[in-house]
Amino acid sequence: MDLDLTTEQEIIRDTARQFAKRELAPVAAQRDAQDIFPKKELLALADIGLLGVNVPEEYGGMEAGVVAYSLVITELAKACAATTVAVAVTNMVAEVICQFGTEDQKQRYVGGITDGEMLTGSFALSEPQAGTDAASLRSRAEPGDGGWVLNGAKQWITSGDTSGVTVVWAKTDPASGPRGITCFLVEKDTPGFTVGRHEDKMGLRGSSTVSLTFEDCFVPDSAVLGDLGDGFKLAMVALDGGRIGVASQGLGIGLAALAEGRSYSLERKQFGKPIATFQGLQWMLADTATELDAAGLLILRAAFLKENKRPFTLEASMAKVYASEAAWRACDRMLQIHGGYGYVKEYPIERYLRDARVTRIYEGTSEVQRIVIARELLKRQDRLM
Ligand code: CAA
Repeated sequence: MDLDLTTEQEIIRDTARQFAKRELAPVAAQRDAQDIFPKKELLALADIGLLGVNVPEEYGGMEAGVVAYSLVITELAKACAATTVAVAVTNMVAEVICQFGTEDQKQRYVGGITDGEMLTGSFALSEPQAGTDAASLRSRAEPGDGGWVLNGAKQWITSGDTSGVTVVWAKTDPASGPRGITCFLVEKDTPGFTVGRHEDKMGLRGSSTVSLTFEDCFVPDSAVLGDLGDGFKLAMVALDGGRIGVASQGLGIGLAALAEGRSYSLERKQFGKPIATFQGLQWMLADTATELDAAGLLILRAAFLKENKRPFTLEASMAKVYASEAAWRACDRMLQIHGGYGYVKEYPIERYLRDARVTRIYEGTSEVQRIVIARELLKRQDRLM
């Protein structure tokens, strides 16, 4: 693994950094305060190719790889974590269709995602009673005339109301447990598919999180993604990749918090000198910088392995649990450095803290990551060497 970025990776990272500074940062506080969905920004990201960084060129992507994708997510998250989650989930949908879809599905949906026509993709796995225990989902798909009839309810679906295509998991053979789950591609406005409550969230305000209902929703056979009964594995494979995205998002939020804490500590004076001169605060900055660097290296390793088509399940979970928890500690410490000013909306630090919190929850809680890490460790003796 090379720690030096390629010229292409640097150019893509810098493009994302400039976009984030120019288009996202100036409106991030307003987006948060008024819960404004970043439609214009997502279309602009599609225009400059950043909705398809790890998508093959033949489907409109940049084909620049997972490391470049991860760098983009980190840069965007430094400015606006809410926009970033829409990008990351859309990317996860594009990737899962690229990996398991038919040629028609790839042309139609992945092409539509990268050029902005679909605006976003969404990933409808979770249900009101099936979050961490994803295999216990209850949505059903029964054979109909030339297709499948979906019934069920989904919850916590990022961009579920804005997506041109939603990947939906449903049981096609309830007696077979995880092996009886199949994946379907459902288009916006399909009869029987309705969007429910828009969640009023603590953070990531501006990103949309909704419930979805499927009532006798008919989809043709061509809507099946992958093989019948393979849906659960497909979800796990997609989430392995998605976790690199969430880790990168956490890293971006943590780095933004660190930059804010550093500059505040240099400006703010108490006892006649900048508070940065006090060792107690210096140690907070030092620990935060060290932890975020460690998170960045874990992310880079997971991204490198995935990019090189090597197993990365364990590494993605390590990156996700470490980066999301490091981001949380970063925001908490930097808020502490701000004192009372950190607790009010005049400074962005309280938004960073609220935005960071969910990275320990979605795409698998910290506890799920530890389950995955422990299982992989127990399976792979080489991990102990
Ligand atoms: N890759 C490939 N296959 C995998 C896999 C992986 N990473 N993980 C599991 N599988 C396979 C297993 O090999 C097994 O296959 P066989 O039946 O052939 O043996 C099958 O899947 C079932 O695996 P498990 O027995 O391990 O399944 P489990 O029920 O014990 O679940 C779990 C394990 C890790 C807890 C899993 O349920 C999980 O990851 N839960 C969290 C779900 C999650 O992350 N949800 C996030 C929702 S999406 C979201 O947040 C997006 C958004 O909008 C922001």
